[in-house]
Amino acid sequence: MMHYRVARFHSFLTLLFLLTASFILFAQTVPTDDESIKSGEQLFKTNCYTCHRVKQKWTGPALAGYETRVPSIAWTIEWVKNSAKLIASGDEYANKIFKEYNNSQMTAFTNLKDDQILDILAYIETEAKRQDNPPPPPGENVAGGGAGVPSAYLNLIIIGMFVILLLLLVILVLIVNALKKFLNQRDLSEEDKDVVDSPYTAGSIMRSPGFIFVVVFVVSAVAFKTVIDGLYSIGVQQGYAPKQPIAFSHKIHAGVNEVDCKYCHTGVLKGKQANIPSANICMNCHTYIQQGTITGTGEIAKIYAAVGYDPATGQYSGKQKPIEWIRIHNLPDLAYFNHAQHVNVGNIECQTCHGPIQEMDVVKQYSLLTMGWCIDCHRKTNVNTKDNAYYDKLEQLHKAAKGQKAAMKVEDIGGLECAKCHY
Ligand code: HEC
Ligand code: HEC
Ligand code: HEC
Ligand code: HEC
Ligand code: HEC
Ligand code: HEC
Repeated sequence: MMHYRVARFHSFLTLLFLLTASFILFAQTVPTDDESIKSGEQLFKTNCYTCHRVKQKWTGPALAGYETRVPSIAWTIEWVKNSAKLIASGDEYANKIFKEYNNSQMTAFTNLKDDQILDILAYIETEAKRQDNPPPPPGENVAGGGAGVPSAYLNLIIIGMFVILLLLLVILVLIVNALKKFLNQRDLSEEDKDVVDSPYTAGSIMRSPGFIFVVVFVVSAVAFKTVIDGLYSIGVQQGYAPKQPIAFSHKIHAGVNEVDCKYCHTGVLKGKQANIPSANICMNCHTYIQQGTITGTGEIAKIYAAVGYDPATGQYSGKQKPIEWIRIHNLPDLAYFNHAQHVNVGNIECQTCHGPIQEMDVVKQYSLLTMGWCIDCHRKTNVNTKDNAYYDKLEQLHKAAKGQKAAMKVEDIGGLECAKCHY
């Protein structure tokens, strides 16, 4: 009897809970304020953009007008949090679109809060109404990096000028000889003969100590410069682009398919390392993007081998072997570089340091990565003080000392101190 009552009480509580829960869900409306739309845009870009566009069909459906198709807003929230669960529950619409998209699994976003999802929906609805503006040409916001005029060009220019000078010299000597012959055939006064047959012939000049000195000087100067340049570039790996174990292309992923760098390089906002994605991240998409239509070289099979996945059965064998990516950028151990400091705090684009990665089929080291390169940027770049209370005081102090207009550069916050970059 007692147990029965407790059980009844429990089911009553559950019912009450479900009722309030569904009430809360039904009461949810998509916000329209700018704040929500802005936060929604950010969330959409980081979570959904890999598979969805608002007005274009992508891996998933174009989301514009979703509200006219889905059963309810509450349904949408549930779907985003865990679409697989909704499909498994037998929900009619969920199963319909799942089939329509060849049983592609949408990622589950259990970590997103309800109001975050509502913000995303707010962004989708606003974006759907917006008139299309042509997108800016790619590469516009990509700042240049690297080192001014590459010294290789300077050397080429110098060598070129040297060759031209030599040619001129040879031509002049030829002209002089021809003129001499011509003049000697004529009757000339003694005085003129002296001038024409002056002892300075091409041969005598070349044998003169002065000429030899000049030649030796030029040759040793060039040799010296080459050696010094070589010394400065010891360890410099600019342009290094090794062949990777899987022909992974940033152009296909970050370029054509516009996958956010942070989707794969998950460390950039949080820590020192950007991280190379594990094969599990590849599987988020390549479970269903099986045969590449681009090359069809079986590269995807290498991902399956790495995670022990059999595409025929959809089963994991449990046998894994990591993909051995070859590291491209590598500072010596004595130097400390932190991605979060630059990307998150400093607000610097990846491309400023890594170049147009989204256009590269094979990644190459774009910048010098020397100490001079770091220091040069710290001298030139303003600290990003926006929305950063920590810098407000520093900036006030800086302006008080150097005048109201003085921009605070990284060097002003200690960016040239040896200990900041060296352990
Ligand atoms: C890994 C790819 C992927 C990601 C990431 C993804 N989706 Fe989806 N989404 C899909 C696919 C594929 C479908 C089609 C249904 C299916 O096959 O499961 C879909 C369907 C939907 C639908 C139903 C649309 C309709 O018109 O019926 C909504 C809404 C949706 N996604 C919202 C989102 C939101 C919001 C996010 C980000 C928080 C997101 N999706 C992230 C792949 C993805
Ligand atoms: C789909 C996942 C994915 C995306 C998206 C992606 N990357 Fe990568 N990235 C990788 C993988 C895998 C490697 C290692 C293989 C290689 O070097 O190509 C890599 C390597 C790199 C490297 C070289 C690392 C080293 O060894 O020094 C840089 C730099 C880089 N990515 C920058 C970017 C930038 C910038 C973006 C955005 C424009 C981006 N990546 C987007 C997966 C991704
Ligand atoms: C956000 C989704 C997504 C992720 C994550 C992703 N890919 Fe891809 N990948 C694609 C798409 C889309 C294509 C282009 C398919 C096509 O058009 O044929 C592709 C193509 C490829 C190809 C070319 C296939 C061919 O035809 O040879 C390779 C190789 C590849 N991906 C490797 C990887 C690796 C390795 C990872 C993990 C580091 C990864 N991908 C992560 C979406 C993704
Ligand atoms: C201020 C310059 C700078 C910016 C901005 C920057 N990087 Fe790097 N990146 C470096 C340097 C320097 C290294 C070598 C670090 C080392 O060897 O410790 C590196 C290494 C890497 C590596 C390989 C090693 C690792 O840390 O895992 C990847 C991947 C990478 N960067 C991706 C990115 C992505 C993605 C972004 C943008 C979100 C980005 N980087 C922004 C300078 C930068
Ligand atoms: C493209 C410009 C750029 C390049 C290149 C660059 N940095 Fe920076 N760095 C910045 C900016 C901007 C900040 C300030 C970030 C902030 O607000 O804390 C910074 C800050 C730092 C700090 C913290 C300084 C402090 O006083 O708190 C260290 C350490 C650092 N960088 C190391 C490096 C190293 C090592 C390299 C070269 C491998 C490098 N940086 C290359 C722009 C750059
Ligand atoms: C903004 C960051 C930064 C600052 C500040 C900095 N360094 Fe460096 N330093 C580096 C990096 C990065 C390297 C590695 C460069 C390379 O491998 O070409 C390096 C290399 C060196 C080397 C060469 C080591 C070798 O193996 O050849 C010495 C010595 C050195 N630094 C001393 C100093 C001293 C002394 C100071 C202070 C006056 C200083 N550094 C300040 C980033 C910095």
